[in-house]
Amino acid sequence: MTDQYAVIGNPIAHSKSPLIHQAFAKQTQQDISYERILAPLDGFADTVKELIAHGYKGVNVTVPFKFEAYEMADVRQPRTLLAQAANTMLFDASGITVDNTDGAGLVRDIVNNLKHEIRGKRVLLLGAGGASEGVLLPLLDCNPNSLMIANRTVNKAQAMANKVNAASVEVKAVEFEQLGSHEFDIVINATSAGLTDAALPIPDSIFAKNCLAYDMMYGRETPFMAQARAAGAQVADGLGMLVEQAAEAFYLWRGVRPETKPVIDMIRAM
Ligand code: ATR
Repeated sequence: MTDQYAVIGNPIAHSKSPLIHQAFAKQTQQDISYERILAPLDGFADTVKELIAHGYKGVNVTVPFKFEAYEMADVRQPRTLLAQAANTMLFDASGITVDNTDGAGLVRDIVNNLKHEIRGKRVLLLGAGGASEGVLLPLLDCNPNSLMIANRTVNKAQAMANKVNAASVEVKAVEFEQLGSHEFDIVINATSAGLTDAALPIPDSIFAKNCLAYDMMYGRETPFMAQARAAGAQVADGLGMLVEQAAEAFYLWRGVRPETKPVIDMIRAM
């Protein structure tokens, strides 16, 4: 019997998750199917219940349903707690288990694929929405030297900083305008500004020598990436993170870790 999985979102038509999971399945010889499912904006829970009734084993969840996925769970993995959001659901005898593999995906891409150590480094996280909150703890778990969160609405960055009780790592919240006197080894753009091609009011001086500038968005060159490139930083988009978060979900479901590099290369070449 083929085990059934899917990704649920709204919109969902452009999701690359089916491609990625089908590639993983082929590579690891796992007998699964994986499809895109468009849930009505007010119909996420019903869609999930229907899939469970049909015997699906799990789903990935994307915008705007990550918070509802968290709410529906019987079992919540620790990685979902800070942001109260989940991107992976597992259906089995214990009911619905939820997890969030986004942060692990980001860390793996930075450390394993891009070969930038996070430990001991000065990290800047831009943005304080769901995407930023979802990766905060995994970044802190890597023991950076310091972590600064900058956001247009500084209160949100401050609220995020207050949530993490990271005795060993200094977490500070600032406005973009306060970044002038600081430089960083890793700058991560977790804002959605790139969606509208909006530039961020950040100075070139934040990019230290050999800095990695990482945009969690993929499929386009954002103003952030262009600025970082011109300022001499090494630049990466979020494609690696996308594939790595999928690999982590695949591992949770199947207990096998697929190789990600060939899949990143395949999608990059499309
Ligand atoms: P997501 O799930 O993508 O994180 P979100 O929770 O709506 O979406 O958060 C969007 C983030 O991008 C926020 O940090 C937002 O800043 P505010 O908190 O001030 O709204 C940031 N953002 C979006 N557009 C932006 C822009 N043009 N300039 C700067 N920051 C922007």
